[in-house]
Amino acid sequence: MVDLLLGLQWGDEGKGKIVDVLTKEYDIIARFQGGPNAGHTLEFDGIKHVLHTIPSGIFHKNAINVVGNGVVIDPVIFKKELDNLEKFNIDIETKLFISRKAHLILPTHRLLDAASEASKGKAKIGSTLKGIGPTYMDKTGRNGMRVGDLEFDDWKTKYRALADKHEAMIDFYNVEIQYNLDELEAEFCEGVETLKKLTFIDSEEYIFKAQAEGKKILAEGAQGSLLDIDFGTYPFVTSSNTTAAGACTGLGVAPNNIKNVLGIFKAYTTRVGSGPFPTELFDEDGATMAKVGNEFGATTGRPRRCGWLDLVALKYAVQINGVTELMMMKADVLSGFDTIKVCTAYQYKGEEIQHLPYSIEEEYVTPVYTEMKGWSEDLTKLSKAEDLPATLNDYIAFLEEQLNVPIKIVSVGPDRLQTIHR
Ligand code: GDP
Ligand code: IMO
Ligand code: MG
Repeated sequence: MVDLLLGLQWGDEGKGKIVDVLTKEYDIIARFQGGPNAGHTLEFDGIKHVLHTIPSGIFHKNAINVVGNGVVIDPVIFKKELDNLEKFNIDIETKLFISRKAHLILPTHRLLDAASEASKGKAKIGSTLKGIGPTYMDKTGRNGMRVGDLEFDDWKTKYRALADKHEAMIDFYNVEIQYNLDELEAEFCEGVETLKKLTFIDSEEYIFKAQAEGKKILAEGAQGSLLDIDFGTYPFVTSSNTTAAGACTGLGVAPNNIKNVLGIFKAYTTRVGSGPFPTELFDEDGATMAKVGNEFGATTGRPRRCGWLDLVALKYAVQINGVTELMMMKADVLSGFDTIKVCTAYQYKGEEIQHLPYSIEEEYVTPVYTEMKGWSEDLTKLSKAEDLPATLNDYIAFLEEQLNVPIKIVSVGPDRLQTIHR
């Protein structure tokens, strides 16, 4: 049986925290797409951990963590992640398995990402510059290098051919990019040596077998539905399917074996990088959300743009993913707002609509808000649903009614324990 856990907005909803909270109920935690553009934060015992490629179940003894075929891996970043875990005495060789079919991010993929962004000027995507786009381009263009290639002696020949091609492509962009390829390659080879110490598996076989044995699997998404390559705010998206279907292709799970789809959203909205964001705030309210919510990217440290909850977009994400349970994060951040606004429709080309149109750029879309009374109580010490303030319960009830899906978890702080089950 496989459950999916997905971000429903523009990423950073709190997936890492919730995967960590839920891991005790699962045998396997498996990442299915994205790469080190992700930054998944978890906090417990006063320590904050940020994971980029490694699934967020890694701190639990009961679970096996799998990096699936749909993920792209940068051996350099991967090595750093492993180095950070060293002091926690995790038996990495038996707890973390890597799919042979996962693609590798080469140093030149990162350079190509930078060259592409530089050439776009103001129209840049705001990529994390981790090489994600170029690596998925090589995957779908059938030129990529995969983890399984590292088990063959000729991997360096393959590497050279691909890196040489990339160098010619970087020249084509004709932009100023400083780099020392020898240094980058030395670092890459060191990362590869570390990666090769891990257990490589045919992950789809592993997942088939686990399902046949009745194991419980949680597929961990990265990014969010509005960054999906097909259904997101294209071209301001990432290069993988972040939505439910991505778990089928990124792990080899058949659609009819998926049971619960857990959708995570913040009680407001954030976005990092470029692209449209109808409910974005440029006033005191937005600044308060950013400050109280400590809204800085876990991977790049960039400030996150903040705004009110967008129910039009959230409904779309619930539909695309077939969400069966919702989790509302960062409710504590909204404490102290007299009024809370929720976007329930868009004004679009002179009419009010309740679906996501082809473009949600500012020039076409104006949000229509419903106002609700806020709450002033500090939520961060609460642990029981009965103790939630009445106006927060009204907010939750309104969202459940609009989305027609129950909100099963309300998160009131970054720590594992600041989690209220309903
Ligand atoms: P992810 O990419 O979806 O895993 O989310 P990130 O880790 O990038 O961003 C979520 C941020 O919010 C992290 O800094 C978390 O520690 C923090 N966080 C998660 N849940 C809560 C919450 O309920 N309240 C507050 N205040 N912070 C939270
Ligand atoms: P997690 O898993 C938030 C954004 C980037 C940029 C766009 C494309 O932590 O939620 P890319 O590097 O993929 O080419 O960038 O997508 N982005 C994220 N935003 N959370 C993430 O991951 C993101 N991964 C990519 O900021 O706008
Ligand atoms: Mg993140």
